[in-house]
Amino acid sequence: ISDVADDIERELVPRSQIDETINRVAAQVSKDYAGRDLLLVGVLKGAATTMVHFAEALSINVQMDYMSLSSYGSGTTSSGTVTVRQDLSTDVRGRDVLIVEDIIDSGITLAWLVDELKRRGAASVKVFALLDKPARHKIDIVPTYKGIVIPDEFVVGFGLDYAEKYRNLDSIAVLKPSVYSKETHA
Ligand code: PRP
Ligand code: MN
Ligand code: MG
Repeated sequence: ISDVADDIERELVPRSQIDETINRVAAQVSKDYAGRDLLLVGVLKGAATTMVHFAEALSINVQMDYMSLSSYGSGTTSSGTVTVRQDLSTDVRGRDVLIVEDIIDSGITLAWLVDELKRRGAASVKVFALLDKPARHKIDIVPTYKGIVIPDEFVVGFGLDYAEKYRNLDSIAVLKPSVYSKETHA
């Protein structure tokens, strides 16, 4: 059992930039949804950390629910199919919904969720993604509220995992190649 820091190659996004981004978007969302009834949908597990910090930075009243979705196994590339591990407990019919995601990589997870919430009858579905990796998009998806654009590198921390580890790192970082080289390819 090693410390998180032992496996980190370098920090990619410092915590100060994460905080600035979340606060900037929260201020904008508080303006845009003033006087309305907003439901935040956090995508577990990766967006759990972003959701907490984003919600506390809002000045409006919101409701919060979570959906647990998975498209990555223990590797670094998407399986291409989205599995619902745990569904919302809220009926989204007629609701204004803002999805809170940690990262857009291929775009498959978000595109699926936007479609699904619309299918369930949401009045509006908007998206805040903390990180965006445009070089990897397989689906043309643009978040309503843009976060931080990052290069095509597999990142961990602030909720994001590699094989379920490193979610508790307090900023966003790249792992040492030796950590990934233990990956088994199917
Ligand atoms: C990761 C990440 C996003 C999604 C982005 O979730 O948290 O939800 O993949 O990738 P995509 O744009 O290629 O779909 P993951 O499936 O690893 O589940 P997790 O949030 O529980 O880690
Ligand atoms: Mn996720
Ligand atoms: Mg993951």
